[in-house]
Amino acid sequence: LAGRAPASRGSQGRGNAPMPSPRLLVLFGSQTGTAEDVSERLGREARRRRLGCRVQALDSYPVVNLINEPLVIFVCATTGQGDPPDNMKNFWRFIFRKNLPSTSLCQMDFAILGLGDSSYAKFNFVAKKLYRRLLQLGATALLPVCLGDDQHELGPDAAMDPWLHDLWEKVLGLLPASLGLGVIPPGVPLPSKFTLQFLPKAPRTGSEEHRVARTDPQSPPSELQPFLAHMVTNQRVTGPSHFQDVRLIEFDIAGSGISFAAGDVVLIQPQNAASRVQQFCQLLGLDPEWCFTLRPREPDVPCPVRLPQPCSVQHLVSQHLDIAGVPRRSFFEQLACLSPNELERDKLLELSSAAGQEELSQYCSRPRRTALEVLCDFPCTAAAIPPDYLLDLIPPIRPRAFSIASSLLAHPSKLQILVAVVQYQTRLKEPRRGLCSSWLASLDPGQGHVQVPLWVRPGGLTFPETPDTPVIMVGPGTGVAPFRAAIQERVSQGQAGNFLFFGCRWRDQDFYWEAEWKELEKRGCLTLVTAFSREQEQKVYVQHRLRELGPLVWKLLDRQGAYFYLAGNAKYMPADVSEALTSIFQEEGGLSGPDAAAYLARLQRTLRFQTETWA
Ligand code: 2AM
Repeated sequence: LAGRAPASRGSQGRGNAPMPSPRLLVLFGSQTGTAEDVSERLGREARRRRLGCRVQALDSYPVVNLINEPLVIFVCATTGQGDPPDNMKNFWRFIFRKNLPSTSLCQMDFAILGLGDSSYAKFNFVAKKLYRRLLQLGATALLPVCLGDDQHELGPDAAMDPWLHDLWEKVLGLLPASLGLGVIPPGVPLPSKFTLQFLPKAPRTGSEEHRVARTDPQSPPSELQPFLAHMVTNQRVTGPSHFQDVRLIEFDIAGSGISFAAGDVVLIQPQNAASRVQQFCQLLGLDPEWCFTLRPREPDVPCPVRLPQPCSVQHLVSQHLDIAGVPRRSFFEQLACLSPNELERDKLLELSSAAGQEELSQYCSRPRRTALEVLCDFPCTAAAIPPDYLLDLIPPIRPRAFSIASSLLAHPSKLQILVAVVQYQTRLKEPRRGLCSSWLASLDPGQGHVQVPLWVRPGGLTFPETPDTPVIMVGPGTGVAPFRAAIQERVSQGQAGNFLFFGCRWRDQDFYWEAEWKELEKRGCLTLVTAFSREQEQKVYVQHRLRELGPLVWKLLDRQGAYFYLAGNAKYMPADVSEALTSIFQEEGGLSGPDAAAYLARLQRTLRFQTETWA
């Protein structure tokens, strides 16, 4: 690859004069990156208006400082069944503390932009609940909550655009911009957040391949210091004619200091395929061998902790930049500012304008076009991107969470997961592939040392420790993964009363761990109930089996204090299973509709009904 000399690629940013001191604060809680992207966009809009602005994840902001903040914009996603994203969980716990005085935030003006999906029952629950709570604590709302909706054909932008218009009017009324300097017009690039200082060309040592060195071997592996686990097994567990490639993957975690219990989750940091990395470097004229050091332009912007210093372009692109992700509107906005080509620039401006959102959705989000594919469509722009802007343009690759499917009691020093390899077709010719699952599936443990960066965190499921509290586990498809860990753990500890409802399409294609379940049944350690959805004319699902066994389910829950668990696809199954349960409570327990719903809510409150679902 012929790399352009990095020295010739200075930042084009205008107005390099330091920005005024920060007064506006944007705090986000983001699970998939949308809330973070919206927040960064807000930050850029503020900088265009010469307003000082900080943008931070809620959990990285010292929450006690809120009492001194004059103006805060919260951007909060709602995940799963109305839960806050992981990077605002500590904030969430703090802000709902009972002992906070009702005047705590009386100096603060705020606005909340929520991101949610109206096909879920608790639509934008987090944003709405936070809004009420901030009012209770004495803060003043500038605007009603903005309810961004993924289900809208234009996505959250449909609600956001008019709301943002009103927001800026209010904000500029409160914090007049430094007018002498004027607004930086939309087409002009802002300074990049970082500068990349390239080092004289020297052969790479390869040491950065091992990521940031673990500086504290005593603390358990984490996002900052993942453990490089050897992949031991990567085995397809669905039949050859099954539509889906599902893998049982085993890692060796000996010496890692990792420990986990049933219900915990492993996070895996995936990387881009080599062919994509090469293509990206070619398009941008980057030499993968170049090494650079990274410096923030403004003092309060932290460098990405996962990047080693110095870092090679190869490392940055393969392990950090999410070039295979579907870019958001701000990517087009920023590209337009950097484009030297009139035709491409006009198109990019159109795609990033409010009027161009339907077209952008058709071009990009609906067919799931990747950032790399977009750059291929705008080659003159791609070739002119100053490396300083890479980290503004392309978000970092996010770690992916998987329910752990094994117990250390049954498989010491090992960690197993069940991975459905995500692949689907859109109107684009190339099939769409999930980054992490495809990367994992491509690794061959037979080929020497295959290492995967991972760490573990507690999941949403916890199991009773008492020896004879029964557990009813409902896990169709890969939803069975956390229950295999639970069953292994419980059986190893002699805990009885294990009831598993498993659903799949075909007995001989996607019935995971059939032999293991049969063996446990024979030993009297497990009651297994199966629903093979496609082996008869009418679909049979786990909830049908639950209803058939209504008297048993009611007896276990009502008389024996059983715990009920549900894991798997978030779309329809959780609501269907909950409905089956409430009708069992009515039929078997003689409860009225409202009493049955209250019974389920009580189970939920007392952690006797727990769910772990994924999209
Ligand atoms: P299907 O694909 O034949 O519709 C694991 O994916 C199993 O869950 C499959 O048998 C699948 O059936 C089934 N499934 C699909 N939708 C479901 C729902 N709403 N509730 C319960 N199971 C469902």
